[in-house]
Amino acid sequence: MKLGDELEVLYTQQQIAARVREMAAEIERDHRGKDLVLVGVLKGAFVFVSDLARLIDLPLSVDFIGLSSYGEETESSGVVKITSDLTRPIEAKHVLIVEDIVDTGLTMRYLLDNLSTRRPASVKICALLQKPSRLRTRIPIQYLGFTVPDLFVVGYGLDSGEKYRNLPFIGAVKGA
Ligand code: IMP
Ligand code: MG
Repeated sequence: MKLGDELEVLYTQQQIAARVREMAAEIERDHRGKDLVLVGVLKGAFVFVSDLARLIDLPLSVDFIGLSSYGEETESSGVVKITSDLTRPIEAKHVLIVEDIVDTGLTMRYLLDNLSTRRPASVKICALLQKPSRLRTRIPIQYLGFTVPDLFVVGYGLDSGEKYRNLPFIGAVKGA
């Protein structure tokens, strides 16, 4: 049996590629002439950032921030901490946070508040997925890939206990 055979496919590799291309075009149009930095949220956004960055035809920089709120659990603890910080200041830069999924929104709320204290020119959010049914705090997502049902999803960077990040499609764990 191949990795992922036990999953229900939600978005194929082709569907994801088409949507990421559209999002990149929008981001490109909105950021011409601006000093743009993509801030990927580790580890889940590593695949999304690499695809997205290559489709944005603008000079930009890429940085990553490591956050943890989950441990090994699938429910957000609400307690967020920075496990690995940005390598460069973002003062006066236009920051685009690139995240795999906004679930309760608690992680994104913390990150927005934290990055805003560093005097960026602007902070926007690009999230591949959102589970609106679980949102506990209002999060403005300027660029959203897909709205997903309340299922635990994996693949394209997203994991379940560190497994499945390398799948090219997004699927739901059956029975989760
Ligand atoms: P939040 O703080 O509840 O919004 O959780 C955000 C983080 O939890 C995301 O960045 C993901 O890393 C993780 N997460 C939430 N839902 C899922 C899921 O369905 N699959 C995999 N990771 C998830
Ligand atoms: Mg994440």
